[in-house]
Amino acid sequence: MEIIIQATPEAAADVAARIVARQLREKPACVLGLATGITPLLLYQKLIALHLDWSGVTTFNLDEYIGLPRGHPQSYHTFMWENLFKHVNIVAENVHIPDGNAQNIPESCATYEARIHSAGGIDLQVLGIGTDGHIGFNEPTSSLASRTRIKTLTPRTRQDNARYFGSEEDVPHHVVTMGIGTIMEAKQNLLLATGQHKAHAIAEAVEGPVTSMNPASILQLHPRVKVTLDEAAASGLQRAEYYRWVYDHKPDWQAL
Ligand code: GLP
Repeated sequence: MEIIIQATPEAAADVAARIVARQLREKPACVLGLATGITPLLLYQKLIALHLDWSGVTTFNLDEYIGLPRGHPQSYHTFMWENLFKHVNIVAENVHIPDGNAQNIPESCATYEARIHSAGGIDLQVLGIGTDGHIGFNEPTSSLASRTRIKTLTPRTRQDNARYFGSEEDVPHHVVTMGIGTIMEAKQNLLLATGQHKAHAIAEAVEGPVTSMNPASILQLHPRVKVTLDEAAASGLQRAEYYRWVYDHKPDWQAL
């Protein structure tokens, strides 16, 4: 894992934007995995401002609520179109978001997996992290080999996400999410986390044991992971000084 600690959320998003932009420039027909939530918003704003060419890009989102109409203000479909896709020249047919209203959820999950596979796999997966260490909506105790499927949110995640819905009762219980096995097949993962409320989950994921109790900890077994943090999200890390030194002394050919 490469741990990149920046002074502010703005600077952390800036590093993440450079990583995504480089992917798009190096492989214009790349496959991106994308995340929702407050955290990637700054990243998406920066990507929009870079005026990159998205015409060849294919995207797969991590997750979606079950039962929310597509156009619901809190659906991840709405989130992605409002905050990224409508501002760039992506081809609508190349955008994939799990269908939270499918008649047959297991079948649509299998189709989602097959589409990722036939697109050639995900080149770069953007991830956020929940306060309980979830990635996508893979809650603690999710199988570390799981594929795209239905999951039930924990009370904590429903509480965390209530801020977007107005009240906790309005947060759906069920979601569709890429599995941990799906995420682990991405060629590269980029986890972005900011804020003190993520410090504990990040410390466990980066420096704790690999455990389904903190699903993000599985990334320790992935060969290409960058974790981009602000100071607050990094504040629980014991080896922060070492990570800072490594980043500040990268050989030129490795620099972003
Ligand atoms: C949701 C999403 C995750 C995201 C997490 C953190 O649960 N399914 O993909 O990483 O929230 O969101 P935020 O960035 O808003 O803290």
